Amino acid sequence: MVKEIDQYLITKDTGYYVDCTFGGGGHSSYLLNKYTDIKIIAFDQDNDSLKRFNENSELQKFKDRIIFCHDNFRNIKTNLQKLNIEKINGVLADLGVSSKQLDDKARGFSFNSDDFLDMRMNKEQELTAYTVVNTFSKENLQDIFFKYGEESFSKQIAQKIIEERVKGDIKTCNQLKDIVCKIKWAKGKINPATKIFQALRIYVNDELGSLQELLNSLSDVLNIGMRAVFLTYHSLEDRLVKQSFKENENLKIINKKVIIASEEEIKANPRSRSAKLRVAEKTI
Ligand SMILES: C[S@@+](CC[C@H](N)C(=O)[O-])C[C@H]1O[C@@H](n2cnc3c(N)ncnc32)[C@H](O)[C@@H]1O
Repeated sequence: MVKEIDQYLITKDTGYYVDCTFGGGGHSSYLLNKYTDIKIIAFDQDNDSLKRFNENSELQKFKDRIIFCHDNFRNIKTNLQKLNIEKINGVLADLGVSSKQLDDKARGFSFNSDDFLDMRMNKEQELTAYTVVNTFSKENLQDIFFKYGEESFSKQIAQKIIEERVKGDIKTCNQLKDIVCKIKWAKGKINPATKIFQALRIYVNDELGSLQELLNSLSDVLNIGMRAVFLTYHSLEDRLVKQSFKENENLKIINKKVIIASEEEIKANPRSRSAKLRVAEKTI
């Protein structure tokens, strides 16, 4: 949804913008190409994103106009302070994992793989999905599946995991998927383990905690009249963004109705089907 991001985010064609989720740099490079006087402070907690930035010649064209922060975007304020940048002209967050992270089976995000149950966006972090699945109590697992996956079979799946892990560690994504499939049948095209994988990913990466901290920082980092644009992919993060925009008296909501991807974009990029774009502007 790069056109919509451009339309709503850029209100001034100079100064610093923050791309909280640099990923493969698609959004940042589009904006840097179009607006030759802006600079971008790019966040990504995944070292692979920094590596791609350093090794990709297309992205390196912009190296004098990108400052890369290999950090969690929850630390936006401290990073801006370190850079001596007081205020910025816009914040973009395209939340969740990238298609590259999902497709890279070794990262353990995808259920159809015999790879290690990892799911960390930041590979320097200690906690993995493996630790959660193999060491957390039944009550704790049930709670995570219900809270972050809205999974109605949370209790039964947590119980099954406890029974299975007595026989040996649950090490791979396929092992976990097969355990879930002992409790749930497939309905249509959706894999029965989808909600469990989502829940573990959100928990392992503290996705909602980081998002809340970023949302809390918005009014401190934005210049007056400048905007925050958030792209969310599931109801839990969308609810958090919607609520936080509404409750922040320094922000005005720009789009009362959520913006979604066009049919054309959904055809080209199926992941955009669940994308919701919300925009707020700093007022005072
Ligand atoms: C959906 S992708 C963004 C894709 C990007 N917009 C592009 O054009 O390529 C999300 C990226 O944000 C990163 N990310 C997610 N949560 C983060 C957080 N709390 N702090 C820093 N980076 C985060 C992920 O590692 C991933 O690379």
